[in-house]
Amino acid sequence: MKGLFITFEGIDGCGKSTQTSLVKTWLENLGREVLLVREPGGTKIGEKIRTLLLDKENGTMAPMAELFLFEAARAQIVEETIKPALASGKVVICDRFFDSSVAYQGCARGLGAGMVKRLNMDATGGLAPDITFFLDISVEEAVKRRNTRGEAKDRIESAGDKFQEKVREGFVLAASEDGRIVTVDASATPEEIFARIQEKIEALL
Ligand code: TYD
Repeated sequence: MKGLFITFEGIDGCGKSTQTSLVKTWLENLGREVLLVREPGGTKIGEKIRTLLLDKENGTMAPMAELFLFEAARAQIVEETIKPALASGKVVICDRFFDSSVAYQGCARGLGAGMVKRLNMDATGGLAPDITFFLDISVEEAVKRRNTRGEAKDRIESAGDKFQEKVREGFVLAASEDGRIVTVDASATPEEIFARIQEKIEALL
């Protein structure tokens, strides 16, 4: 069986985790072996880098330092986890991947999409997802959802609504430039969103 690499992207609070777990269960019921991972993290080294990145005590981090830490965690999870899983025919679902660096560091932090995309390729050795779902939602709606969940904000989530607005613009632009990225209206119900995602994945199975 051929491996399949699926990633989910969007601003904080767009509903990725609901969809990644629905997709995982569905594909497992179809008899596929599925690995669900998240970025940053997913490996021992990656989880340590994640703590560094999201810890509010770390306050302001130089955008370039932030980018390199995300890329370091990425290089590790690609080598250690994603490539071997794909080689053994698994479906790998990743909650965020390199498009997040384009939107957050490239666009919202202002480092520029071009440089971030080049580094992404270096970090992954050229591995790109087969398909990426960009769950698009307004910043207002995402904030409402996050408030209902009542979770504490991490360092990056604390950057404010204007920052999230720029992140969203970054994703919208990336999606307009790359056919790999499928934009899904994430203001719809979870069932509707899942149906649209299923339809796209089915075409790849
Ligand atoms: P996480 O708790 O996983 O957020 P979410 O549940 O919204 O996915 O935290 C990851 C944070 O890191 C999130 O705010 C997005 C940010 N991020 C970047 O800024 N650049 C990246 O390359 C990645 C992968 C994540």
